Amino acid sequence: RLTVRDIDVKNKRVLVRVDFNVPLGTDGRITDDGRIRAAIPTIDYLVENGAKVIIMSHMGRPDGKVVPSLSLRVTADRLSELMRHPVQFVNECVGQKVEEVVSGLNDGDILVLENLRFHAEEEENAPVFAEKLARLGEVFVDDAFGTAHRAHASIVGVTKFLPAVAGLLLEKELVSLGHILEKPARPFCVLFGGAKIADKVKLLENVMDKVDTILVGGGMAATFLKADNYEVGKSIVDEKIDLAAKLMAKAKKYNIKFVLPKDVVVTGDLTPDARGICVPVDKIPPLGRVVDIGLLTINLFTKELERAKTVFWNGPMGIYEMPQFAEGTKTMADVISRLHATTIIGGGSTAEIVDELKLADKMSFVSTGGGSSMLFLSGEKLPGVEALLKKNEKAAV
Ligand code: 3PG
Repeated sequence: RLTVRDIDVKNKRVLVRVDFNVPLGTDGRITDDGRIRAAIPTIDYLVENGAKVIIMSHMGRPDGKVVPSLSLRVTADRLSELMRHPVQFVNECVGQKVEEVVSGLNDGDILVLENLRFHAEEEENAPVFAEKLARLGEVFVDDAFGTAHRAHASIVGVTKFLPAVAGLLLEKELVSLGHILEKPARPFCVLFGGAKIADKVKLLENVMDKVDTILVGGGMAATFLKADNYEVGKSIVDEKIDLAAKLMAKAKKYNIKFVLPKDVVVTGDLTPDARGICVPVDKIPPLGRVVDIGLLTINLFTKELERAKTVFWNGPMGIYEMPQFAEGTKTMADVISRLHATTIIGGGSTAEIVDELKLADKMSFVSTGGGSSMLFLSGEKLPGVEALLKKNEKAAV
């Protein structure tokens, strides 16, 4: 594998793609800076080795428009605090102004560019945009494991125009996940929650030959319960309900234990002081909305997790942001942290939860990628990694 350690970066303008897609509170402050901290080893390395460091990232989904609340300025400030090193910021990511700022950089300087997704061409992977980005650097370093599953201009497009290598975080993620998932100790149990079922159904389909147990909680449980003929009241049911039914049938064929909640916490409204009641899944009231897993389910999931030798967890068990509906998620985090098993925390919001609960160092590996770690788990290729491999085909990869 070709990484930043294998190239000479001294005096060079190094364009680094990171994933600074960090969560912001209602006051616009960063609520979890894990992804910024995770990018520091590469940035440090570059500074120490005399490079001019130009950092690019996306934040949120502004859909090609300038959304001031999604400016990366806050991440530049936080990076500066964390590194105790000045970090410049420029409120564009391509164009003349940026090129001027870049040409004024000295060795060891750090510059953060504005949110790439303020330009629709980023997600379209438009070659003209990729070329404009590439013009800013002499070498490209991809350290954005969390976005490696997106074939965007700053990830895939730029590799056509510049020498391209992996950063230290990308390397660490690929080596650690690869090592754990190559031959996972069995039983292998995955715990899925969160909402984005459409993304996860396909992944679940692809892991059938690798896992022994699938536990489903959180927002996506309602869709599976509905597919299993339960009434789920006012819970959000994904339109991919057919896929959920097919998935359960497939799990049966593969002899996989597919475990849905037996009881859930439901509420009628989502105001801050909303109360929930715990009901069996066949008693969800017509106006109820599923917001957490119930006690029976917590015990059931705990038993399954305790039998496992490898565990992969992605997605909260309910509306974790509301403390009264966070019990299931917190308990699962706690249970997983105590297991005598290899435990992998897949990504974005799940990593934040584990961090917040101060359990991160009790897990075998906490990945900075949600979607990307799940794609990795499913054995599919990550466009970001493929682009680097293709670029360096002839080098010692
Ligand atoms: C993530 O948080 O999963 C990555 O930053 C990618 O973000 P996206 O799902 O908006 O592409």
